Amino acid sequence: MLVSVCRPHFLPTTQMPLFTFVLLLLSSLPPLTSPHAHGNTNNSMDPHEKETLFQVMDSMSSDRDWRSSSPAPCSPGSSWPGLECKQVGGLLHVTRLDFGTPHSPTCKPTATFPPQVFLLPHLQSLFFSDCFKTTPSSIPAPPSGPPPHLEQLSLRSNPALVGPIPPQLFSLASLKVLTLSQNRLSGKIPAEGLSLLTSLVHLDLSYNSLTGRIPAQIGLLESLADLDLSYNSLSGPIPASVGRMGSLQKLDLSSNSLSGGVPDSLGNLSLLAFLALSSNRLAGELPGGLPRLQSLQYFLMDDNPMAVRLPFQLGRLARLRELRLANSGYWGPIPGSFAWLANLTTLSLEDNRLTGEIPRGLGGLGRIYHLNLSRNMLGGVVPFDAGFVRRLGGNLDLSGNPGLCARGDVGVEVGVDVCGSGGGGGSSEHQLMGRSGGAVRRFVCWDFSTLLLGIFGGLTVHHWLLL
Ligand SMILES: *[C@@H]1O[C@H](CO)[C@@H](O)[C@H](O)[C@H]1NC(C)=O
Ligand SMILES: *[C@@H]1O[C@H](CO)[C@@H](O)[C@H](O)[C@H]1NC(C)=O
Ligand SMILES: *[C@@H]1O[C@H](CO)[C@@H](O)[C@H](O)[C@H]1NC(C)=O
Ligand SMILES: *[C@@H]1O[C@H](CO)[C@@H](O)[C@H](O)[C@H]1NC(C)=O
Repeated sequence: MLVSVCRPHFLPTTQMPLFTFVLLLLSSLPPLTSPHAHGNTNNSMDPHEKETLFQVMDSMSSDRDWRSSSPAPCSPGSSWPGLECKQVGGLLHVTRLDFGTPHSPTCKPTATFPPQVFLLPHLQSLFFSDCFKTTPSSIPAPPSGPPPHLEQLSLRSNPALVGPIPPQLFSLASLKVLTLSQNRLSGKIPAEGLSLLTSLVHLDLSYNSLTGRIPAQIGLLESLADLDLSYNSLSGPIPASVGRMGSLQKLDLSSNSLSGGVPDSLGNLSLLAFLALSSNRLAGELPGGLPRLQSLQYFLMDDNPMAVRLPFQLGRLARLRELRLANSGYWGPIPGSFAWLANLTTLSLEDNRLTGEIPRGLGGLGRIYHLNLSRNMLGGVVPFDAGFVRRLGGNLDLSGNPGLCARGDVGVEVGVDVCGSGGGGGSSEHQLMGRSGGAVRRFVCWDFSTLLLGIFGGLTVHHWLLL
């Protein structure tokens, strides 16, 4: 009798004691009030809720005839992957609906976002992936507010999902995970309601066409661990309020049109491990408080018009694994402090205006396997030994620094001339002629021509003879 009571087979184990208790209670009651003894009866769901579920299924997926193939959809053996239910107060309720992820129902080409889905009163998780592909459809404003228990809403990779994010979606205190990535959503990030998302841990709006500013209210999301707004068209400054999101571990704002400086308050984010600000219009000094980011492992900030010196302080980010600051107008020398970044695996400084010599200490970075210093104005002798060069192989790029030269045993492999060599000298000289910067001239082949530097403005004997 007990075993055959209609119950979901996926009940979380933590709820088992209570569930067992309910069963015991039910089994002690007179037969009339006990649930139907057979698992596949269909009156253990609220008929309205079941009808809503079938309406959603019919409008979304033509994988099968849902009503006839699963007349009691929440019952064990009759449900399908992508549907989860749980028992509340003797009735079975839909808690999870999943479309488009592996094994789940697939969406038919004409599927549009079914507003009824927000009427499922116990829904906790909703997934639509690779779903809305051809018929343009927008996210409906939940009719009477979204389901009160909704914790996870994931709408991902839906090329026909267009229009704005309805502000009502944000007025949801239960939401923990909100993923609206890789759709064609447009308009602004709604500022209203953000303050209500006090449980939100993960917010991903990446790869859409969102415009306008990042609302300052974003700082109110104090539980947020992961914020991804990358690959949109957001403009204006990064709000200083980001420094209030003290739980943040990942912040990705790359590939937008953000301008202004990097706010000082960012230094407040002591748990931040991943920071990506690449491909924006950010400029000016990096915040002095940057070294306080002692959890930072990835700092990706290529392609911004920074036009400042590389801060010495970056060398204090002891956990850094990747540092990417390419194509950002940085000038002056590479700070010797970068040699302290013992865990660095990738250092990308190409396409800047860096001058001076390569710090000898970089050759002691034991974990590095990708080092790109190409297309700068670095000079002097490459300080790396043959072992280092061999280890990095094709991932070491020093080319496009006309003032650099390398000792004979490493020269050819790293894209620079061998110091004092004949063959490479011509091209080096050609580049020297093309550039007028004094910085370039000063650093040609120190080892060979130190004595002549003052006299010949940095040209080697070889160059001199060619002239
Ligand atoms: C189950 O649902 C079907 C139609 O969906 C209905 O005909 C049938 O009477 C229901 N059974 C019970 C026991 O309610
Ligand atoms: C830094 O964090 C503290 C504590 O989380 C907070 O009170 C303060 O307002 C933050 N400062 C800034 C500039 O955001
Ligand atoms: C460097 O990496 C190792 C191994 O991944 C790790 O155990 C160590 O804590 C890291 N060091 C720092 C300073 O983060
Ligand atoms: C280094 O950067 C240049 C310029 O962006 C690029 O063309 C080259 O492929 C990079 N080299 C390596 C080894 O990544």
